[in-house]
Amino acid sequence: MENFVYSVPTTVYFGKGQVRHIADIVSTYGKSVLLVYGGGSIKRNGIYDAVTDIFQANGISYHELSGVEPNPRITTVRKGVELCRKEGIEVVLPIGGGSTIDCAKVIAAAVSYEGDAWDIVLDPSKIVSVLPIVSILTLAATGSEMDTFAVISNLETNDKIGTSHEDMRPKASILDPSYTFSVSAYQTAAGTADIMSHILECYFSNVEGFMQDRMAEGLLKTCIEFGVKAIENPEDYEARANLMWASSWAINNFIKLGKVVQWSVHPMEHQLSAYYDITHGVGLAILTPHWMEYVLNDQTVEKFKAYGVNVWGIAANQDAYAIAKEAIQKTKAYFEAMKLPMALREVGICDETHFDVMAEKASASLSKAYVALSKEDVKEIYRRAL
Ligand code: NZQ
Ligand code: ZN
Repeated sequence: MENFVYSVPTTVYFGKGQVRHIADIVSTYGKSVLLVYGGGSIKRNGIYDAVTDIFQANGISYHELSGVEPNPRITTVRKGVELCRKEGIEVVLPIGGGSTIDCAKVIAAAVSYEGDAWDIVLDPSKIVSVLPIVSILTLAATGSEMDTFAVISNLETNDKIGTSHEDMRPKASILDPSYTFSVSAYQTAAGTADIMSHILECYFSNVEGFMQDRMAEGLLKTCIEFGVKAIENPEDYEARANLMWASSWAINNFIKLGKVVQWSVHPMEHQLSAYYDITHGVGLAILTPHWMEYVLNDQTVEKFKAYGVNVWGIAANQDAYAIAKEAIQKTKAYFEAMKLPMALREVGICDETHFDVMAEKASASLSKAYVALSKEDVKEIYRRAL
């Protein structure tokens, strides 16, 4: 196992009604809040009223940035930065899914930076300081509520780029599973596929961590147990609670530290979202089985066998390749059971128009992946996914 420092200082308020703490949490960091949210789901399901009522009762002043897009855009980040400067904002409070939290993170980091916010997406070492971030999560998927990452799109350049800074990790996050009751079946499925992908990206690595991998298998089993259940019964609290906590643990470093991890499917998916603005988790579900088939070889087959036996319960006393192939088949079948699209054509990507440039960009970080992938490899995976 490699050396590491484990420090995940986000304070998590988990469970029903934890929003009651929001005034106390926010007051720790300041009195002037920027409330950041998306297209209005928080108004329809009552979370907006719950939070603003508490703010009004406690004399906390707030300004609002609404309309954060799924696949949040740099243009929206810039609006938020202006608002923070103009109103003297001290705390940034995203309420929503990963897009809203990611947008808020980069706003918080860009306020004290003199240049354009896109600069710090491209190069997080330029970040000077970050306003405190407190998040209220409404969709179990990205883990942004407990991690240091933010992924921002720039439509002018067709780029979707991840950035990361330790101070962009939320100081505190409210995780109330009942807030996810209103998430659509489609977004629940996409979110579950995203959580599974975050775990798989760490699981398939060249430097092993026995303990981390057993934890990862437990998290994968949790997603498999509860993803379909949450879709069938959106108000199943236990299902929503397990997915929500799994989303945080998938990417809060716990299953990654000590291993050498270089993600494979995410860089390929981010190009799909950048060029076609598709839902992140859907792109991952389409690509994952093709990636798995592509990288299955004599070096990787034992790991796929472990995945098949420990996660999918496939009998161990068979040929390793047979187990590996069945595990890949079961992965695909699970995404299908959640009614996710399983081909790029189904999400409107019908030809190879952008594959060359997308593969070029994606492969930039894939030379050190679990199985190194060249531009041609990535193109071939896109083609197979068509
Ligand atoms: O905008 P609103 O109206 O809130 O609606 C959203 C949006 O349309 C809706 N939604 C969220 N909570 C809801 C709800 N609808 C009803 N009830 C609720 N309680 O769901 C839609 C999707 O929301 P979004 O925030 O885009 O989804 P998600 O959480 O999957 O975030 C995706 C973004 O996060 C990035 C992705 O690339 C993508 O841009 N990622 C961020 C990561 C990170 N920060 O660590 C890592 C991930 O791998 C990922 O790349
Ligand atoms: Zn993801």
